[in-house]
Amino acid sequence: MSCMIQRDRELATLRGMLRRHPAVGIIGAGQVGKTTLARILMRGESQPIHLFDLESPEDLARLAEPTLALKPLRGLVVIDEIQPLR
Ligand SMILES: Nc1ncnc2c1ncn2[C@@H]1O[C@H](COP(=O)(O)OP(=O)(O)OP(=O)(O)O)[C@@H](O)[C@H]1O
Ligand SMILES: [Mg+2]
Repeated sequence: MSCMIQRDRELATLRGMLRRHPAVGIIGAGQVGKTTLARILMRGESQPIHLFDLESPEDLARLAEPTLALKPLRGLVVIDEIQPLR
């Protein structure tokens, strides 16, 4: 989309953080573009991607036993809309 705010710098920061840390959080106010940034990141990945969208009751249920759900996964795990886990 031509009206997109470029997030190249944020994307580079995110990629850099993911190289150095096992988990990275994207935290921000509502509707600032967290999910969109995660989508752009996922699009450029060559490793396997596992997405949990916690607004989906199905995905939320899959994480009821987090260790069981996450331990076998390899690659990049994205957990979106994490606020219901409070
Ligand atoms: N880089 C961008 N440039 C322009 N518009 C954007 C950009 N990123 C996101 N948007 C738009 O802003 C809105 C919110 O984006 P998004 O859903 O990614 O935000 P969010 O932070 O995940 O929101 P929420 O807090 O509700 O989960 C959407 O309409 C999306 O298309
Ligand atoms: Mg979001």
